[in-house]
Amino acid sequence: MQRFKAYLEVNLPKVESFHPHYNEALAKMLLAGGKWFRPMLLLSVVEAYKPLLYESSLAPALAIEFLHTYSLIHDDLPAMDNAPLRRGCETLHISYDNATAILVGDALNTEAFYHISKASLRDDIKIKLIELLSRDGGTYGMVLGQAIDLHFENRPLTLEQIKFLHINKTAKLIATSLLMGAVIVGLDKDEQDKLYRFGIDLGLLFQIQDDIIDETKSDEEAGKTTGNDENKNSFINIMGLENSIKEAETIANDLEERFKLLDKPLQKALNPIVKKYLYRHR
Ligand code: IPE
Ligand code: IPE
Ligand code: MG
Ligand code: MG
Ligand code: MG
Repeated sequence: MQRFKAYLEVNLPKVESFHPHYNEALAKMLLAGGKWFRPMLLLSVVEAYKPLLYESSLAPALAIEFLHTYSLIHDDLPAMDNAPLRRGCETLHISYDNATAILVGDALNTEAFYHISKASLRDDIKIKLIELLSRDGGTYGMVLGQAIDLHFENRPLTLEQIKFLHINKTAKLIATSLLMGAVIVGLDKDEQDKLYRFGIDLGLLFQIQDDIIDETKSDEEAGKTTGNDENKNSFINIMGLENSIKEAETIANDLEERFKLLDKPLQKALNPIVKKYLYRHR
């Protein structure tokens, strides 16, 4: 975590220009923190199998955080979730204006792929990482999920459809974070698939927990605008709080069993990051 923090701080996007707050706006949400859940997933896989590659894996880990942060900045815009608070800070469209928030999102999206392209990793690996992050963080994943999330506000979906929504908007980026780690260390196809499937269910659990946070936590506790899912196809709105907690427990129990089947060094490296989600109801 400390190494990632230090790496992020020296690799913030920065450009010389006469714009009065361009660099400050680019950096603001990145410096505001967040859990760094996704980059830590990638780095844990690398740490478990090839710790010597940790240093060169900081670049793709940061790339995921760039892309994720862009998705949050756009998610908070008035045209989307209209949220004034994120990571304990005013959102960019409040501190600056809508145009700045849109453009910082655009910049962090492209910065993600620029950053991978410059990493000290083999070219074929970098191309694969770019493929995975653009696939799951874009058209075929996060963007599709966000499109469904917003198009179907106030139009109730079925439980299956909500799972599809959550898998695309959130779980695929989480699964791909594990998969990118697996690609860097050269795990075989079966191992990669297993880890990706684990990541999808972990991501689904993560988004159900996020829906529970929206319902049960204050803005101060969450560091972001909560009570904001009123018109959404959230788990809470479709099955109520109690059943959402039960559904989360069911997924967590299943994941806990599958976690025990992962390689021991991987369990050890992932445990600090995932235990909060897997064992939270004990
Ligand atoms: C929030 O993501 C958006 C979701 C996909 C649920 P995180 O809960 O990972 O937010 P940060 O990065 O810690 O701020
Ligand atoms: C957003 O989901 C997921 C993204 C892809 C950004 P939410 O809208 O539920 O995320 P929060 O609750 O604002 O963090
Ligand atoms: Mg949203
Ligand atoms: Mg939101
Ligand atoms: Mg939410």
